[in-house]
Amino acid sequence: MKKRIGVLLSGRGSNFDALAEGAASGLIPNAEIAIVISNREGAPGIEKAQSRRIETCVIPSRGLEREAYDKLVIAALQEKRVDLVCLAGYMRLLSPAFVRAFPNRILNIHPSLLPAFPGLEAQRQALEHGAKFSGCTVHFVDENLDAGPIILQATVPIEDSDTPETLSARILREEHRIYAEAVSIVLAGRYRIEGRRVLTSLEKK
Ligand code: GAR
Repeated sequence: MKKRIGVLLSGRGSNFDALAEGAASGLIPNAEIAIVISNREGAPGIEKAQSRRIETCVIPSRGLEREAYDKLVIAALQEKRVDLVCLAGYMRLLSPAFVRAFPNRILNIHPSLLPAFPGLEAQRQALEHGAKFSGCTVHFVDENLDAGPIILQATVPIEDSDTPETLSARILREEHRIYAEAVSIVLAGRYRIEGRRVLTSLEKK
């Protein structure tokens, strides 16, 4: 049976697209995207999913408390019997109940070398700080913002001529590559967690 991935997104959806392509091409073996959920109506990522004939669902968050909203999303993911939840530009903090519902089964991609530059506009933060390298991080999601154990990272040099846009584009290419790789590792169980360390070059004990 194929492993079932649920993707949550709020916008463009290029990371979703990379995961969908990875699953379709076999780069992520034995996996399929079971559902794509957005909190924003009109998110371009939803259209991308529809054009791939992947099931989509928009759950608007306006007016709902975080816990009440997350209950709806958890229910939608459970109904689809997802094995793994991938946040792909999902601009909401998950409630503790959400994290507990999928222990070590939620991944996020963030456009910086965490723990540097968490939160919004990470690429602009890195540039304005004067960092010479930035990159991206795939990590397990816990209750804190951009904080869970790190699975994979990729570095990207920052050039003098960079703007937030040029740097974002260079980082994005690496995001697409390492997100698919991290999902493959997690779905295959090719890792173990020791404290905060995710060891990926060793078989799970
Ligand atoms: C990506 O750069 C992703 O790393 C970032 O949002 C962008 C979404 O692009 N996520 C965060 O900043 C989360 N803290 P996409 O919709 O094209 O995948």
